[in-house]
Amino acid sequence: MTQTTDKDRVLIFDTTLRDGEQSPGATMTHAEKLEIAGLLDEMGVDIIEAGFPIASEGDFKAVSEIAANSRNSVICGLARANIGDIDRCWEAIRNAAQPRIHTFIGTSPLHRAIPNLTQDEMADRIHETVTHARNLCDNVQWSPMDATRTEWDYLKRVVEIAIKAGASTINIPDTVGYTAPAESADLIKRLIAEVPGADAVIFATHCHNDLGMATANSLAAVAGGARQIECTINGLGERAGNTALEEVVMALKVRHDIMPWHTGIDTSRIMNISRRVATVSGFPVQYNKAIVGKNAFAHESGIHQDGMLKNPENFEIMRPEDVGLTESNLVMGKHSGRAALRDKLEQLGFEIGDNQLKDLFVRFKELADRKKEVFDDDIVALMRAGEDPENDHLQIVSMKVVCGTGGPAEATIEMEIDGKDSTATAHGDGPVDASFKAIRELYPNAAHLQLYQVHAVTAGTDAQATVSVRLEEDGMISTGQSANTDTVVASAKAYVNALNRLITRREKSAPGSDIREISYKDVS
Ligand code: KIV
Ligand code: ZN
Repeated sequence: MTQTTDKDRVLIFDTTLRDGEQSPGATMTHAEKLEIAGLLDEMGVDIIEAGFPIASEGDFKAVSEIAANSRNSVICGLARANIGDIDRCWEAIRNAAQPRIHTFIGTSPLHRAIPNLTQDEMADRIHETVTHARNLCDNVQWSPMDATRTEWDYLKRVVEIAIKAGASTINIPDTVGYTAPAESADLIKRLIAEVPGADAVIFATHCHNDLGMATANSLAAVAGGARQIECTINGLGERAGNTALEEVVMALKVRHDIMPWHTGIDTSRIMNISRRVATVSGFPVQYNKAIVGKNAFAHESGIHQDGMLKNPENFEIMRPEDVGLTESNLVMGKHSGRAALRDKLEQLGFEIGDNQLKDLFVRFKELADRKKEVFDDDIVALMRAGEDPENDHLQIVSMKVVCGTGGPAEATIEMEIDGKDSTATAHGDGPVDASFKAIRELYPNAAHLQLYQVHAVTAGTDAQATVSVRLEEDGMISTGQSANTDTVVASAKAYVNALNRLITRREKSAPGSDIREISYKDVS
């Protein structure tokens, strides 16, 4: 629904699959993108920005397929301010039930300098490209990138040009997360008041979280008159991320008394999609993240627990079930069957195919053999473990690690590398260091370890550890995850998972592959 006469309705524009996926290391597979688009549609997202079709053949195919399978949501593709981008975008989205072209150009002095255009030349370019987009599609969104650092008079001028050329949504991006709430509200308010034709279009807000103000800035923009919020699940996005969908939606719901606007989002689906995006992007949600963090509804201190038992409203401003959070129950043991596992996964909001279930069931049985009690969170961790067999060049066959107080740790690892088995032994400063060294001996690589993180999934000494590993090689970033009751095994597998993803990225960006280097210079 993008046309509404309800002046209090705020449209939710989700860009997890475009701005979110642009986050270094957050690359999703084709199937994962289709799945996430389906979940976004089901939860009531008004507009899904499905990708940047000119960026690669893969992006084009994903956007086309999402468009062809679209149901309720408008499907939007991104295009720079050039005819080639816009034509490619239209080709990808034209089969959507409701297509939208989103075209943009950087309008601040710094961004104008990249293509080296004068203010007048850029104004002409905006007129030409928005007109072209409008001739193809009757739903066109235009964005002046870095709007919040664009001179006021120039911003007004270009917004007016875009409206006259036929844009029906004007998005005002805070590209570098520079604005603050009062300024964000004021900017939208003044644009609506001063730009001729502004009352006939929808103003959108698109905030980045560099100063931790994306949610506040988006809500302030709505107070100023914006009626579309651009956001991502879990706040995924470049640098500090984008506005988190779950935060703005729940803020509008919980504080409707002072923010009298509403969205069409079914909030009970939030937890499920948050988990799926964390899994497929390889970006775990921080424990104390608002709304979807593991601790968001946990009450540890005695005073809080006592207060909660007397009346949950003492310490809770929303109910866990409002965001689709059900209690972590004891689920199954080693005698549970495949049907019970599928049932549990469905309750947790995961829909998986037969092959994935087969693989997960093997890992569930292994876990149930080692761990007496298997909880919901254990199942979620297994799903998140990032095993990606179809793309695996490297696989750990077996490992043995000796460590203790007596000297350096020793790891012996047997790995299958592109179908060939080999074994290496290495010593290191602790069992994880020794294991990573052994893996590097078997698969020499120059990737730098950027992040190594371990979390216990549940309580108890037999708890599974989920490990995240982020690697960087020549500017390419990949994140791997694994879960195991043995922290060292989880660490080694997460490292190998990150290497597998890096190999896939390398293949995709090799000369002759389908990835094109996207530059903001290419506005023409
Ligand atoms: O942050 C930004 O400016 C963007 C634009 C492409 C809308 O993502
Ligand atoms: Zn952005």
